[in-house]
Amino acid sequence: MKTIPVLLLGCGGVGQQLLHHVVNCRSLHSKQGLVLRVIGVADSRSLLVVDDATTMEMDDAFLMAICRAKSSGSPLSSLLDIGQCQLFKDFNATIKVIAVAGLLGRSTGLAVVDCSASSETIDTLKQVSGLGCCVVLANKKPLTCGIEDFDKLTLHYRGIRFESTVGAGLPVIASVTRLLMSGDPILHIIGSLSGTLGYVMSELEDGKPFSQVVQAAKYLGYTEPDPRDDLSGMDVARKALILARLLGWRIDMDDIKVESLYPEELGHGSMSTEDFLGSGLSQLDKNIEERVKAASLKGNVLRYVCVIEDHRCQVGLQELPKNSPLGRLRGSDNVVEIYSRCYKSSPLVIQGAGAGNDTTAAGVLADIIDLQDLFNCRNSS
Ligand SMILES: NC(=O)c1ccc[n+]([C@@H]2O[C@H](COP(=O)([O-])OP(=O)(O)OC[C@H]3O[C@@H](n4cnc5c(N)ncnc54)[C@H](OP(=O)(O)O)[C@@H]3O)[C@@H](O)[C@H]2O)c1
Repeated sequence: MKTIPVLLLGCGGVGQQLLHHVVNCRSLHSKQGLVLRVIGVADSRSLLVVDDATTMEMDDAFLMAICRAKSSGSPLSSLLDIGQCQLFKDFNATIKVIAVAGLLGRSTGLAVVDCSASSETIDTLKQVSGLGCCVVLANKKPLTCGIEDFDKLTLHYRGIRFESTVGAGLPVIASVTRLLMSGDPILHIIGSLSGTLGYVMSELEDGKPFSQVVQAAKYLGYTEPDPRDDLSGMDVARKALILARLLGWRIDMDDIKVESLYPEELGHGSMSTEDFLGSGLSQLDKNIEERVKAASLKGNVLRYVCVIEDHRCQVGLQELPKNSPLGRLRGSDNVVEIYSRCYKSSPLVIQGAGAGNDTTAAGVLADIIDLQDLFNCRNSS
């Protein structure tokens, strides 16, 4: 059996689901000759780690107890009594992660998995990567900070995976990487990478007012608690930046033109979430309705997309032919069209659920398994 040690940073929706997947896939992995050995779990306040990271692991009952505790809002410290673990807080937690990485990085390829939504993990990730650890990310922030940090994290390119940062479990990063590695130059990427905005834009085609559609999206649980976090386009811009950097573009967030679907006067600094939902949203109806109608008159539909082409990376509304993969999009799916030399007139199209804890965690798990090939010799017994 080949063992893959795993240290998880972030135990919210995605992190907990990852632990469930690890436990549920035990027999599948065993048939493949693999064992995932979770040795530590961290949240924003502390790190719970086994007493001896070289020999011990958290058993499945303990992993499920972690999930139960975190989903009920209890701190990791509440679990100290039931596992053979130590708890480290704040700065000491970071020091311990680095110590464990130093112990296991080069010998086992310890997978340090970032399922947090924080930029505080960036320094830790750079350090553990330098210590020979594999890094797996669902968190976009480490890849969308300054280009120097991106360079450092991706220096050992074969030791990092980040499929779930764009399109959750959809194989967007894998497809782009495979095209690039085969020498098939990518000419153009256009994608609807927000489930919320995909839903909103496709519902507008039926003539419903923008405010009503956004309210419905919120009711269905598609939006962030404050829908402006989706409507600003910043999350799509982060995904676009990751794709552009994957293509080798040395750009930062400031280089991306982002169209927000609401003006500054309706922004966080000017009105509360309640006021935005109550009176702000409806102020946007007329303008969006006119744009939808103008597109429709030309046989087009409006989509909120990222466009990466000719050294131009932009995020916002575009009119697209109704009869194109993006034009046909209904509901909250993500759709990405990739045009390359081999896929020039008929693009490579990737479509499916682009969010959700289950699919995101599945993408993370697949990344962890994918990386184990790097450590073929060192871990076999
Ligand atoms: N959910 C999706 O559909 C989806 C899709 C694609 C990508 N993602 C990405 O996946 C990541 C996780 O999403 P989520 O929905 O699981 O978020 P979440 O529920 O907010 O959970 C975030 C977790 O990270 C922990 N955390 C915060 N700062 C930390 C730090 N410095 N070190 C270690 N842990 C830290 C939090 O700790 P506390 O528990 O103490 O607050 C929490 O456990 C995000 O980056 C998100 O953008 C999510």
